[in-house]
Amino acid sequence: MEHHFWHQRWQAGQIGWHLPEPNPLLKQYLPELALPQGASILVPLCGKSVDLAWLLGQGYHVIGAELSPLAREQFVEEQGIELLPGDDGWWHSEEGRLRWFEGDFFALTPDSAGAVDAVYDRAALVAFAQARRPDYVRQLASLAPGAQLLLISLDAEGVPLEAGPPFVVPDDEVVQLFGDVATLEKRAEHATLRQGHPWWEKVWLGRFKAVDSAA
Ligand SMILES: C[S@@+](CC[C@H](N)C(=O)[O-])C[C@H]1O[C@@H](n2cnc3c(N)ncnc32)[C@H](O)[C@@H]1O
Repeated sequence: MEHHFWHQRWQAGQIGWHLPEPNPLLKQYLPELALPQGASILVPLCGKSVDLAWLLGQGYHVIGAELSPLAREQFVEEQGIELLPGDDGWWHSEEGRLRWFEGDFFALTPDSAGAVDAVYDRAALVAFAQARRPDYVRQLASLAPGAQLLLISLDAEGVPLEAGPPFVVPDDEVVQLFGDVATLEKRAEHATLRQGHPWWEKVWLGRFKAVDSAA
C-alpha cells in the first residue's frame, strides 16, 4: 500500500490490527526458535505492537521498523519505554535493547540494521499487495541472512486476493515467495473470526539462507 494510506490510518486512529495483549501465537511458537538471551529480533512494520515490549521482557534485543511517527509516539506513551533520537538516525531505548527505525522499510540497509538473529512477521507480509510481496521478502532476506523466521500469514476462503489489507496470502504463495531465500515449514493453523467470516492464521517457522541468494 502507499505510504499515505498508512499515515491516514494512523491519523484517523483506524488501527484495527493492533492487539492490546502480546500475540498468543508469538508466545506459543517463539520458544521453538530456541533463541539465546540477547538475540536480536527484527520486527518489520512493527506498528506500536505490545509484542515489542514483550520481546524486550524476554531478554531479547529488538529492531523495530515502522513508517508512522504516531506509532512511535503512542508506543512510547503506552509502554512507558522512552525512545531517544540517535546520531545514526534511529531511535534508541535508554538501556539500548530497542532500536527503532522510523521510515520506509525498503530504505533500511543491512549495515544500518546490524546483525539479525530472527525475524518476527505479524501483519507485515499480509500488509502488502501481491505485486509488492516479492520485494518485501527479498528485503527481509537481505537484512537477515541466516536468521530464523516466525511468520504469521492469513488465509480465508472466498476473499478476493486483491481485497486488503490485510491480504489473504495462500500457502502456495508463501512457499513460492520464501522458497529461494529460506527454508520454511508451516507449523500450525489457527482459526479466527474476522467480521463474522472464518480466517486462518498460519504459523510458519524457518530460516533464511546465510547468503542472500535473491540478490
Ligand atoms: C497492519 S499494521 C501491523 C503492525 C504490527 N505488525 C502489529 O502487528 O500490530 C502494518 C504497519 O506497517 C506500517 N507500514 C506500512 N508500510 C510500511 C513501510 N513501507 N515501511 C515501514 N512501515 C510500514 C504501517 O504504518 C502499519 O503500522
